[in-house]
Amino acid sequence: MSETLLQAAKEAAGNAHAPYSRFAVGAAVLLADGSIVTGCNFENASYGLSLCAETVVLATLNAQGKLRQIREIAIVGGTLNRREIRGSSPVRPCGRCRQVMTEAAQLALRDIIVHCASADLSVVEKFWLSDLLPLPFGPSDMGLVQDD
Ligand code: THU
Repeated sequence: MSETLLQAAKEAAGNAHAPYSRFAVGAAVLLADGSIVTGCNFENASYGLSLCAETVVLATLNAQGKLRQIREIAIVGGTLNRREIRGSSPVRPCGRCRQVMTEAAQLALRDIIVHCASADLSVVEKFWLSDLLPLPFGPSDMGLVQDD
């Protein structure tokens, strides 16, 4: 399943709108029912408004009413070179994305697995979200986790 999830993230990276950084990222979320939802980075001419792939896929999950079904997320990316996405370093989520993922994880009442991979999938790292963002502030601190 990890292989399928990584492939889905890699394919999504192919749709990245990243003409400014030339760095394409895809993210794929595995849901409790085994289905997969994908997203990619969406940059903006006003650079600071750019959205990371992870944030895009989580906003899509929210729009589909499936935030609580999140189980795992895979992130794949690298440098755009013509149409190719290249690189052998794994893409690890930025701080903002770790916080956004924590929102979904706490609502799902579980820790989630984060797979971080290079564009060529030669390097894949696997983390618990709680290790990437320890001691978070989240919806559980706002009393929103149990009966909402
Ligand atoms: N980016 C992501 O989409 N996810 C990450 O985990 C790291 C960075 C994007 C943001 C920006 O469009 C480009 O990669 C370069 O930072």
